[in-house]
Amino acid sequence: MHNFEFFNPTKVIFGKGTIAKLDRNVPADGKIMILYGGGSAQRNGTLDEVKKALPGRTLLEFGGIEPNPSFETLMQAVEIVRREQATFLIAVGGGSVIDGVKFVAAAAPYSGDPWGILQTYGKTVKEALPFGTVLTLPATGSEMNNGSVISRKEQHLKLFFQSKKVFPVFSILDPEKTYTLPKRQIANGIVDAFVHVMEQYLTIPVGARLQDRFAESILQTLIEVAPAAINSHDYSNRADFMWCATMALNGLIASGVPEDWATHMIGHEITALYGIDHARTLAIVMPSLLNERKDAKCKKLLQYAERVWKLTEGSDEQRMDAAVAKTREFFEELGLKTHLSDYDLGLEAVDAILANLQKSGMSKLGEDGKIDPVMCRRILEAAL
Ligand code: NZQ
Ligand code: ZN
Repeated sequence: MHNFEFFNPTKVIFGKGTIAKLDRNVPADGKIMILYGGGSAQRNGTLDEVKKALPGRTLLEFGGIEPNPSFETLMQAVEIVRREQATFLIAVGGGSVIDGVKFVAAAAPYSGDPWGILQTYGKTVKEALPFGTVLTLPATGSEMNNGSVISRKEQHLKLFFQSKKVFPVFSILDPEKTYTLPKRQIANGIVDAFVHVMEQYLTIPVGARLQDRFAESILQTLIEVAPAAINSHDYSNRADFMWCATMALNGLIASGVPEDWATHMIGHEITALYGIDHARTLAIVMPSLLNERKDAKCKKLLQYAERVWKLTEGSDEQRMDAAVAKTREFFEELGLKTHLSDYDLGLEAVDAILANLQKSGMSKLGEDGKIDPVMCRRILEAAL
């Protein structure tokens, strides 16, 4: 296993009725700004519950953070935070609202154009306002990590930044708050979490036995809970799903192992260009990428085949193919299509995605940096 530092200061407050614990975890003084999305938190009562849990506070509100949050919308929030001198932020929503709040937290005290935060991948972030989150959509892991993905809509750009300054102080995870999610978002969340684990697990072996088993256990749990998560409001099932999504991207399973974020980087460009949901882009790219990288990923693919999908019959080649097929089937069964043509995209899209990747400086992707534009074209053409 490689050397590593594991740092995660976010306090997780998990379970039924935990929004009531906001009072204990949010500062009693100062100005508290609650930020939310396009209205689901208002409609299902979560926003009211949050406000009720904060008696005696001076509260400000900012709604309208859209899926794939935009720089343009978030800068409006930054202006209010600066003008009103907000001192603590609370994100109520899914990954988009939480990512948006991370950006607002870092942008408010930033000197210079806050787009610089994205252009430097967060390296220029010196300070950020403290913030907590109330998660309503298990998927991204943003509630317990320090990453954020922000779009600049008119330029078709989707960039990420990371900074130790933007870990949430706390995150409230109440599985009951996911009951109002449409099936589409649950399916998206399962696939996003699944792919997060895959990108930290399915690389090359480095003797990290425990990390491997952590990753395999999350994959197996996601596969187990998926049908009931989509079709029922079973609390225990939702709780497991929620915890899987958080554990999939909080730094734990990445510790000491190589990572391959190529599927995400290519997927982000597909969303930036065509507005396809984040998880849906991953379902298009991942099976094709695994096929292309069978040689480089051979050992881990065989381990994945055996331990996660229980595939033990046939040659190495057959077991690897079967594991990729199982992965594709899993996504398709959840309703996530796995080809560009399912979205009426053809060869012209491949060119556009490649051009955008180049613009974002993504020309050496994968755990070994070997996914160059030529290989990337093969991956995308095979996903047509
Ligand atoms: O906006 P509202 O009205 O709240 O509706 C949202 C939105 O339309 C709705 N929703 C959320 N909770 C709900 C609900 N509807 C009913 N009941 C609830 N309880 O769901 C829709 C999608 O929400 P969004 O936050 O966009 O989804 P998700 O959590 O999948 O976040 C996706 C964003 O996160 C980024 C993605 O790129 C994308 O921009 N990611 C962030 C990561 C990170 N910070 O670590 C990693 C990920 O790989 C990902 O890139
Ligand atoms: Zn993701």
